[in-house]
Amino acid sequence: MKTMIDYKNLAAKGVQKLNPYIPGKPISELEREMGISNIIKLASNENPLGSSPLAIQAMKEVIGEVELYPDGNGFALKKALAAKHNVEMDCITLGNGSNDVLVLLTEAFLAPELNAVYSQYSFAVYPIAIQAVGAVHKQIPAMSWETDSPLGHDLDAMQAAVDDKTRLVFVANPNNPTGNHLSEKELKSFIANIPEDVIVVVDEAYLEYSSVEEQVDASSWLKEFPNLVVTRTFSKAYGLAGLRVGYALSNPDIANVLNRIRQPFNVNALALVAAENAIGDIEFLERSLLENSMGLRILENTCHDLDLRYVPSKGNFLLVDFEKEAAPIYTELLKRGIITRPVANYGLNDCLRITIGTQEQMNRLNNAMQEVCG
Ligand SMILES: Cc1ncc(COP(=O)(O)O)c(C=O)c1O
Repeated sequence: MKTMIDYKNLAAKGVQKLNPYIPGKPISELEREMGISNIIKLASNENPLGSSPLAIQAMKEVIGEVELYPDGNGFALKKALAAKHNVEMDCITLGNGSNDVLVLLTEAFLAPELNAVYSQYSFAVYPIAIQAVGAVHKQIPAMSWETDSPLGHDLDAMQAAVDDKTRLVFVANPNNPTGNHLSEKELKSFIANIPEDVIVVVDEAYLEYSSVEEQVDASSWLKEFPNLVVTRTFSKAYGLAGLRVGYALSNPDIANVLNRIRQPFNVNALALVAAENAIGDIEFLERSLLENSMGLRILENTCHDLDLRYVPSKGNFLLVDFEKEAAPIYTELLKRGIITRPVANYGLNDCLRITIGTQEQMNRLNNAMQEVCG
């Protein structure tokens, strides 16, 4: 349909400047394009073991009731989360994925004259959500490859960037797409140095992939820091990415603000029961973490063999630096039925982010990488 109107020009100024989020290529698209089967997707940090059997069973039990709206307050899931995190239920905001709660935070606390601070090479949704509401996104250059925290957050520079117009600071721990993480000491002293009228969002989408002893769980500091918001997701270690369910933990006043603008039924009925039951499926969680650590080791060995540097990862993915344009390598891996994630949109043209699959998948990736890069 032809039109003389430039609809992009009608959009809000912040929206006009957005670079849309680029998702990983779906398997079906590659099958169509390349006419090949037996494809493995190592592009979107999904769980290669599937989902918790307890979650699937619980969904089967409610599938016949989807003519009804879900529980808009998510009572049962919040109750389970409150017990897990040892917080009151009014500290919890449920989201259609943790992406939803990140957007709620920007909608609730930002406006065109205000700003939010985040690190270069951090989750691509932060600048999108900040700019969508017309606010200023202050991207702070990351640490260099040569430091102890290659491509990690420069916390001193982030703290220095906070001014009287800053309302939000985003910290991903572990970070995506780099995989690096901050120690308890670093993160806690950073939060302590941020003024109380600036909300610090600690995004813990990948926290479960660290062993319990190593986890830097900022949610245990909620009482100490009223300006702290911690976000979590069921998309990664719990294997429920397709259902879209995540949450924020915060002081009740912040949760109250977020719940004012939340869509009344933002988490669907199947997602609510699946998440509630996945929390208790420790067996599935432990199996997922074990498979991840074995698969990660295989990919690290491949990198050592091929003399490729990478960012040590605490997530279910590894950022590999090919030290030359990575796009041709991505294409060669695609031809071998392996979808990885280009990160040129982050300015990392020489890198690919590779999700950790099963050990079998990582052995297949090893063979493909040996052919392509060896
Ligand atoms: C750091 C980080 N935060 C948040 C999310 C959002 O995940 P979801 O909306 O599936 O909960 C992702 C997804 O990849 C992520 O990498």
